[in-house]
Formats: sequence, structure tokens, C-alpha cells
Amino acid sequence: MKELNKETALITGGASGIGLSIGKRLAETGMKVVLADIEVPVLEEAVAELKGLGLEVMGVHCDVRDMGSVEEMKNQVEEAFGNPKIVCLNAGVGFGSSISEATISDWEWVIGVNLWGVINGLHTFLPAIKEMGEGHIVMTASIAGHVSVPNLGPYSATKFAVVAIAETLRKELLTENSEIGVSCLCPGFVSTNIFTSERNRPENLLSKSSSDLTDEELLQREAFMEWISSNAKEPSEVAELVHRAILDNRFWIFTDDQHLDGLKSRHSSIVNGDELPWPAPPLIDL
Ligand SMILES: NC(=O)c1ccc[n+]([C@@H]2O[C@H](COP(=O)([O-])OP(=O)(O)OC[C@H]3O[C@@H](n4cnc5c(N)ncnc54)[C@H](O)[C@@H]3O)[C@@H](O)[C@H]2O)c1
Repeated sequence: MKELNKETALITGGASGIGLSIGKRLAETGMKVVLADIEVPVLEEAVAELKGLGLEVMGVHCDVRDMGSVEEMKNQVEEAFGNPKIVCLNAGVGFGSSISEATISDWEWVIGVNLWGVINGLHTFLPAIKEMGEGHIVMTASIAGHVSVPNLGPYSATKFAVVAIAETLRKELLTENSEIGVSCLCPGFVSTNIFTSERNRPENLLSKSSSDLTDEELLQREAFMEWISSNAKEPSEVAELVHRAILDNRFWIFTDDQHLDGLKSRHSSIVNGDELPWPAPPLIDL
């Protein structure tokens, strides 16, 4: 979209981190912005903060795992701001576990938010965007949607799927000569609240692995959080890239060149029929 003007933008997972920064950036351009999120008190704070800056923003409670909740959110958005032309399907939760130790509840939760959230969002908003004949959809995947690393299997599985959905939709819309753009956001590490995602896990999907950290794991976690606070990208930098990609209708949005080597060696192992690149290059140097 060349001009965003007074159109409506919707961002799921908009109360925090990358989603909140995208919402702020788009509202600064003069857009009407809807932040949809499951965490109501944080959402209310975020909306108040942006309104305090004179931006046109509303918050809507929504659980992206639940189609009924997404449809209800769409009705509220339509009534208040009109159908969104920009939809950022960004809500997500982080979860680390080996494949052997992940429980069915773990899988259900991560797939529910990270994958069904995107599917429910597309099913609900794509028809109206197609009817308007103009718009842009951003799907938040991850660098973990391109490379797999131990202990990130369930998360990675959802992000590989989001990459596939985004690529396919892009090609289908190009085939139809559609004016509707698609971008696939693939961040590396970003300094957000993703690392405390368990706060949003529903009670019926709690699992033992979510709370029982050993002392060693707690120390590792502390070192990891220290690394994040001084090395990870700021959400505002990612939001700037997303804003640019929407204006330029650019598909891929990567945030870190350093992760692209892992992607290249994966692709060359596929093309050459080689063993997977192993040992996997560490994502961070602790
Ligand atoms: N932070 C990173 O390093 C990083 C890296 C790659 C990809 N990502 C992706 O970026 C996206 C945004 O995450 P973030 O890093 O800003 O984390 P964050 O925790 O700061 O924001 C995620 C938001 O999603 C919301 N959410 C969680 N479950 C939800 C549900 N069921 N329904 C609606 N909203 C829900 C949370 O309340 C939160 O506001 C996610 O898809 C994540 O996987 C993050």
C-alpha cells in the first residue's frame, strides 16, 4: 500500500512487544489502529499510552485461538473503525522444550496461538480485504520458521507453518493480479515479553514442564535474559521494517543478517542431499 492515510489497521498480540510497536508506528502515520490481545490490563495500559500521544487507537479483547472470539473482535472493529485494510497476525507465545518432553497440552497451546491464531485471522479478515480490493497482511513467523534448533521444536513447527501459509497466500494473490500485499516477518531475538509467555497459558493447558525449572535451568535463563537485554533488537526497529515493507509491498522481513548463514546451510544441505548442518550453530553466544 503506497498510502496508509486514515485507513484501519488491526494488530493481534498488540498489547506488548513487537505488536505494540507496529501499532504505534502505524498510528503515527495517521491510521486508526486496533490492538487485539488476550491480556486485558496490559492492553488497557497500552491503549491509554498511545491515546496519551494523541494517536487514534482502540483495544479489543481477543483470544486468537478461538474463532468465535476473533469473529466477535471483527464485529467490534468494523463498528468502531471500519474494516481493516492492514492486518498484522502477530500474536504468539514462546515455548522451549525437547520433542521428547513436550506434553500434548504444550503442543495444543503453542499451535493454538501461533498457528490457529493466524488461520483464524486470515479466515475472518481476508474476505473483507479482498472485497475492498486493497490491503496488506503481515504474518509474524520467526527465524525459527526457517531453521530448527534443539528444544524449540513445537515453536519452530508453528513458525515453519506460518512461513508456508504466507508464501502460499502471496503466490495466490499474485496469480490473481491482486493489489493485496503480504509480508512474512521473521525476527531474530527481539527484546519483548515473549520470554515470559507462560503468563498467557490457559489453565486447562498447564503442564508440569511449564513451572518446574531446576536451579541450573534458572541460571541458564538468567544468563539468557542478560544476553537479550544487551543484544536483542528493539521492537521499535522491527516496527520500522514492517512499516517500510507495507509501503514497498516487500514479502520477506528479516531483522538479523547473522541468522541468514544458518538458513543458507540448511538450504544447501537440502539441495545437496547432505546431512543436516550439525552441530547446529548456536543462536546466541552465552
Ligand atoms: N521476541 C522475539 O525474540 C521474537 C522472535 C521471533 C518471532 N517473534 C514473534 O513475534 C510475535 C510477537 O511476540 P513478542 O516478541 O512481541 O512477544 P510479547 O509477549 O511481548 O507479545 C505477544 C503478545 O501476544 C499476546 N497473546 C498471547 N496469547 C494470545 C492469545 N491467545 N490471543 C491473543 N493474544 C495473545 C500476548 O498477550 C502479548 O501481548 C510472536 O508471534 C512471536 O512468536 C518474537
